Amino acid sequence: MQFTLKIQRYDPDTQQGRLQEFTVDGPETATLLDVLDVVKDTVDGSVTYRKSCRMAVCGSCGMRMDGAAVLACKTPMAPLVEAGHVPVISPMGNLPVVKDLVVDRGAFDRIIAAGGFISVPTGSAPDGNAIPVPKENSDLAMDAAACIGCGACVAACPNASAMLFVGAKVSQLALLPQGQPERRDRVRSYVIPLAEAGLLPSRLRFGALLP
Ligand code: SF4
Ligand code: FES
Repeated sequence: MQFTLKIQRYDPDTQQGRLQEFTVDGPETATLLDVLDVVKDTVDGSVTYRKSCRMAVCGSCGMRMDGAAVLACKTPMAPLVEAGHVPVISPMGNLPVVKDLVVDRGAFDRIIAAGGFISVPTGSAPDGNAIPVPKENSDLAMDAAACIGCGACVAACPNASAMLFVGAKVSQLALLPQGQPERRDRVRSYVIPLAEAGLLPSRLRFGALLP
């Protein structure tokens, strides 16, 4: 199958951007990430994007297709070919562009590093069954833990807010007994890197949230 797509290029040295069209061959099952790999391997090795797991787990291949946030490794390309549509691939919005389709997701790492942990007492590990967790809480915590830090919520938010991401990181620990001792400190810790990255909702004042 022949795939055509337009890629938003950005050169950090010249700070110039442009749209570049590519046409490559690939199997009918190809995802957007597969097509990008073919472009990079056979046409233009300077096309830059991020990938890792290839199975919608790591969030690193987040980008936009025709303005909508997608995971490249999870986006089939055949339906676009069948519809005769040439998609425009651009980087995630509301995050600093490093090069081409790569954005700086460092703020997410700093937010998690600031409070995405629980205290571990010394001694032997407690038996898991000794800490009862209501099934509903367990299910909700698992749902929150499914956040892969892809940045789609930031890209889609008119406020450039990362509150959905932060909400998931707070909830996955606050819903469980192990996350209780630090639940207030954790939220306060998240606010500073969130504000420094400019990802707070614009209606919230930085100073008003500090202790
Ligand atoms: S909450 Fe945001 S960063 Fe996390 S998976 Fe959902 S869209 Fe991606
Ligand atoms: S490569 Fe990991 S989510 Fe796509």
